[in-house]
Amino acid sequence: MNRLQILKGKIFQAPMAGATNPAFVAKSSNLGFVGNLGCGYMMPSKISEGIEEIKKETSKPFGINLFVTKGVPDYESVVSSDKSILKAIETVYASADVSFSAPSYPSCVPPFDKQLEAVLQNPPPIVSFTFGIISADQVEQLHAKNIIVIGTATNREEAVSWKQAGADAVVLQGREAGGHRGTWIGPEKDSLFKLDELIEATKDVDIPIIPAGGVATIQRAKVLQQNPRVLAVTVGTALLMSHESPLCAAHKKHFVELSQPSQVANTFAFSGKMAKGARNGVFDELENKYYPYPIQHYLTSGLRAEAAKQQKTDYLAMWCGDGVVERSELKSLEELAKEFEVEK
Ligand SMILES: Cc1cc2nc3c(=O)[nH]c(=O)nc-3n(C[C@H](O)[C@H](O)[C@H](O)COP(=O)(O)O)c2cc1C
Repeated sequence: MNRLQILKGKIFQAPMAGATNPAFVAKSSNLGFVGNLGCGYMMPSKISEGIEEIKKETSKPFGINLFVTKGVPDYESVVSSDKSILKAIETVYASADVSFSAPSYPSCVPPFDKQLEAVLQNPPPIVSFTFGIISADQVEQLHAKNIIVIGTATNREEAVSWKQAGADAVVLQGREAGGHRGTWIGPEKDSLFKLDELIEATKDVDIPIIPAGGVATIQRAKVLQQNPRVLAVTVGTALLMSHESPLCAAHKKHFVELSQPSQVANTFAFSGKMAKGARNGVFDELENKYYPYPIQHYLTSGLRAEAAKQQKTDYLAMWCGDGVVERSELKSLEELAKEFEVEK
């Protein structure tokens, strides 16, 4: 438990693939959050560069987050099994006035084993995982490099498995959380527990917990931190609403304007995996028209990249948690550090 003491009572800047970069992570850590780089979509060489860059900018604890994936579905057979889905995706591209080209699949998918190797070669203080679990041997390899290992659980069984694998702590991701569900045992729809329910359901699992999901105020963070099992608390969306976060201006403005809980929902439309974000037309246009993850993700990535360039929120995947409606302005990370009472 000693190694974990540096994290006790801290606020984790949530790992958010595609919405965090090394500068944002380093600044978060320097201000007293625990910055986390979402590396799920990054090639191993980019991960190495990211770790290097963060280490140059901060001597504070920070983490690297990976998606645990084992093999990828075959593109040709998946897409040819239902061409109407591809047609629907192409129609969305056309309505956005973006030209469609098929992704260079599977070479665009970063290999998990190589990502892990990159992390072991230049160890960060913390590595966390979502979408799956690693073996007890891999946990040991990370421990041998003095790395704190953190799993993600959306149900009791996943938390028990991470405990058994030897993880140091587990993120409990409640259904309020923004972004992809980390669920890897059973379908996501069976693990949509409210954060408080999940904390209760895992109370006999002897592992420090890091609650995540909808934590948008210091008051909520403090309530969670009263629980002695809580090592640290995760804040995602509230920190995306900072001047420094790498989202485009229209995306941030859209978040500021959201005020109704019904404007936030789960969808499979963008990636083929359940994720929570701000509703837009794509939710409806590709409802039930998706290939399994990660094929859908890479089929829509050209659309999302162009939408960000053109600041078209109608076509962006604007992942956010339920707490987005509780926040009504953009702040600097420094102001957020004061608000969340984090200490340097
Ligand atoms: C834009 C975005 C991207 C995310 N990407 C990841 C990721 O790469 N890895 C991960 O473990 N969790 C990811 N998540 C989930 C967060 O780590 C965290 O569970 C969530 O943000 C907490 O809910 P909140 O946004 O309401 O604070 C993402 C969330 C968002 C909003």
